[in-house]
Amino acid sequence: MIESIEQYRQSFDDYLQKILQFGEPAGLYEPIGYIMDLGGKRMRPVLVLLSAELFGAPAENALPAAAAVEIFHNFSLVHDDIMDAAPLRRGRPTVHRKWDPNTAILSGDAMLIRAYQQLDGYPPELFQPLTRLFSRTALEVCEGQQYDMDFESRDDVGIPEYLRMIEFKTAVLLGCALQMGAIIGGAEVAEQEAVYDFGIRLGLAFQLQDDYLDVFGNPETFGKQVGGDIIENKKTYLYLQALERCGADDARELRDLYSVRPTNPQSKVDRVRQIFETCGADRQTRNQIGGYTREAFARLDTLTGNPRAKAALRDFGEWLLRRDF
Ligand code: IPE
Ligand code: IPE
Ligand code: MG
Ligand code: MG
Ligand code: MG
Repeated sequence: MIESIEQYRQSFDDYLQKILQFGEPAGLYEPIGYIMDLGGKRMRPVLVLLSAELFGAPAENALPAAAAVEIFHNFSLVHDDIMDAAPLRRGRPTVHRKWDPNTAILSGDAMLIRAYQQLDGYPPELFQPLTRLFSRTALEVCEGQQYDMDFESRDDVGIPEYLRMIEFKTAVLLGCALQMGAIIGGAEVAEQEAVYDFGIRLGLAFQLQDDYLDVFGNPETFGKQVGGDIIENKKTYLYLQALERCGADDARELRDLYSVRPTNPQSKVDRVRQIFETCGADRQTRNQIGGYTREAFARLDTLTGNPRAKAALRDFGEWLLRRDF
């Protein structure tokens, strides 16, 4: 039975509490409990559960797969925050700041292993396709992360390259979450691919919105350092659109601002935000978020399956793209 999204989140959190009991050494496990307890939107596990129900399996059957995806996601955040020199996550100090980078590296590694272990209990006919998909996705996320880092020091990044980068670092994990639910629900390969594709479009919209909020988000609710991408010279959609749209003087200034580490980060953030607005990169980004969202929902509409799960997926997608955190 399809209940509200909040109930899915709650039943996932209850499950997580049961499976994440840690022993010694505390230096390895405390940071894992810390980051996992900070919560977040729990988007990926909710997608796994809803997709399983869409294709006719009870959501409970998909809880271990949902945990695998969410623990993996949190692992990637712990390492991402080192790579991005990020001070804040979900409104609290990042693991490498609260402890230190070595702790964040090893606790992250242990999380990756714990993520895989969640799949151990599935019967072989599910275990094999699930791990195959999960491993392919995990490697793609690493590839996306490497492109993201490479782009920091490149000044010739194009929009198609950027889109490929965010497809890998972010969208494939949403696709994977949905396809795992479909595998558990016994969906045909064509249906698995369609729901995966829905996740890719949703993920592209989601990452563009993450980029947008990184610049224009409310520091009270965003939970991360607003302006962090600008400080780190991230070649985001906003930046690339701004370069395409603004005049020669603004473009030169933007390139100059992105060629060094700022001595005064706040004045860089303020100036870059102003240029983004002047040339309409903010509006263009919002339009593109709307475009990918519509593509995502068109894909969802082609799917047959439990209509209430389908409606819940749509509501959830709408909520995600209205969020300000
Ligand atoms: C953050 O993901 C990393 C991105 C891919 C943008 P979320 O925005 O889903 O983070 P939480 O789990 O809700 O904190
Ligand atoms: C993160 O992208 C993607 C992964 C963690 C794989 P970001 O670096 O934009 O995520 P946030 O903004 O730190 O959450
Ligand atoms: Mg990053
Ligand atoms: Mg980051
Ligand atoms: Mg971001």
